[in-house]
Amino acid sequence: MTESPSQVLKAQDPLQVVVLVSGTGSLLQNIIDNQDDSYRVIKVVADKPCPGINRAQDAGIDAEVVLLGSDRAQWNKDLVAAVGAADVVVSAGFMKILGPEFLASFEGRTINTHPALLPSFPGAHGVRDALAYGVKVTGSTVHFVDAGVDTGRIIAQRAVEIEAEDDEASLHERIKSVERELIVQVLRAANVQDQQLIIEI
Ligand code: GRF
Repeated sequence: MTESPSQVLKAQDPLQVVVLVSGTGSLLQNIIDNQDDSYRVIKVVADKPCPGINRAQDAGIDAEVVLLGSDRAQWNKDLVAAVGAADVVVSAGFMKILGPEFLASFEGRTINTHPALLPSFPGAHGVRDALAYGVKVTGSTVHFVDAGVDTGRIIAQRAVEIEAEDDEASLHERIKSVERELIVQVLRAANVQDQQLIIEI
């Protein structure tokens, strides 16, 4: 008897995702809330105690804080150990630069969500800088993490219009509501081949 294709082809297992956070973790929450057959959050790692760690614990997800001491290379190696067997690493509001010791293990499989339309307004103040410049449209970018600051290959972007009455907080909140959806869309469209993330979006 010949096997039908459905018997021959094994369904892709869910991607094992580790999320890096530093703060509130509202993007993390949406990633957790939307887990399905395409991805599972296996761990949350932070660089300091923060609400994102509490969100992981509340969801029953393994959580670990890896504090940065005086040795940055060692901290990067400790992060690699904490991230463990992830297929994909998502930096979602993680406010530290990942170094070569981390990227040696996870470059090509680490993505970041940034609250501006890269390559405009990279860095820690993307929302503030866009507002100060006076652009009329900004947005959200999901991109690969490389050795630069928000310079990796762009995966997906969504625009957000700036309104006359916006301040940094109101604009950031509107951008974050877009970021929360976009990062889930990207994860659902992701596969890993030869330790590289392939995203068909
Ligand atoms: C997001 O805007 C992310 O792009 C930026 O930090 C914010 C994280 O928000 N790097 P939250 O902690 O998930 O609420």
